[in-house]
Amino acid sequence: MQLITGKAKIAAVLGWPIEHSRSPLLHNFWLQRHQIDGAYIPLAVKAEDFKNVIQGMKAAGFKGCNVTIPHKEAAYQCCDIVDETAKKMGSVNTLWFTEDGKIHGTSTDGDGFVANLKDADVTLTDKKVLILGAGGAARSVAYALLQDGAQITITNRTLQRAEQLVRDLGAGQIIEWKSWIKELGQFDVLVNTTSLGMEGKDDYLFDLQHASNDLVVTDIVYVPRVTPLLKAAELKGLKTVEGLGMLLHQARLGFSKWFGINPVVDHELTEFVANSLKK
Ligand SMILES: NC(=O)c1ccc[n+]([C@@H]2O[C@H](COP(=O)([O-])OP(=O)(O)OC[C@H]3O[C@@H](n4cnc5c(N)ncnc54)[C@H](OP(=O)(O)O)[C@@H]3O)[C@@H](O)[C@H]2O)c1
Repeated sequence: MQLITGKAKIAAVLGWPIEHSRSPLLHNFWLQRHQIDGAYIPLAVKAEDFKNVIQGMKAAGFKGCNVTIPHKEAAYQCCDIVDETAKKMGSVNTLWFTEDGKIHGTSTDGDGFVANLKDADVTLTDKKVLILGAGGAARSVAYALLQDGAQITITNRTLQRAEQLVRDLGAGQIIEWKSWIKELGQFDVLVNTTSLGMEGKDDYLFDLQHASNDLVVTDIVYVPRVTPLLKAAELKGLKTVEGLGMLLHQARLGFSKWFGINPVVDHELTEFVANSLKK
């Protein structure tokens, strides 16, 4: 058993609610693997208490934290130093406190998304990528894809949201939601960033009849692990990449900032977290 001493490094994840978060499981898995004197705890924090809690954590010597819904924009406002990615997102999911008293923040979802595809040997430079959705996750995914040299097209049920995203990114094409199925043949990669296919959500028919045989299909939804979109792609014999890897990869930067080790995403960790999703 790993012991926590008086010198332990402490980090946390803040959200409201927070019970569903898998982040404590995965960070504590890495802490144990590397025999680090530290802990990563879930904190249920209401929106109105968020700023006070951040200041309290800093005063109490926490190394930093992850933030999830509904705190990502408020966390951005709390930061003293943010990078270009955070500025483009207007939100952060990872904070770290440095000895000079500064709060640093970034958004790691986009890098996690790209790292997950690279793990599956999918290259993105000059690839034509169709993104389903224009919500918060789509923003991170689209920005990371552009950074990696992909050509992006966005389609979203609410057209104005796709238009706003393309304006904010300063790049990308748009197609209407009702047209994406018949336009699919021109794309190399299809990514679902909508909540469609999530356990407990409405059914939706992901029709891939016009896909080319080389299309790579990925979903950022990871509950269930094999989503309806991924099932449809498997039935057509297409290459698929699950969303769980994105969750695992996006966690790596925070862990390295707080605990001083660059952790890896491997089969053992993936199965450990995947098993927790079944319960
Ligand atoms: N793997 C990971 O690490 C990871 C990270 C972040 C998020 N996620 C997952 O990504 C999903 C989206 O998260 P988010 O934060 O981007 O949510 P969000 O900001 O609320 O955006 C939701 C998106 O889904 C679309 N949508 C919802 N219901 C729809 C329907 N019935 N038909 C068509 N489109 C619909 C919305 O379209 P409208 O604009 O028309 O409403 C919007 O584009 C969630 O399932 C989340 O769990 C995974």
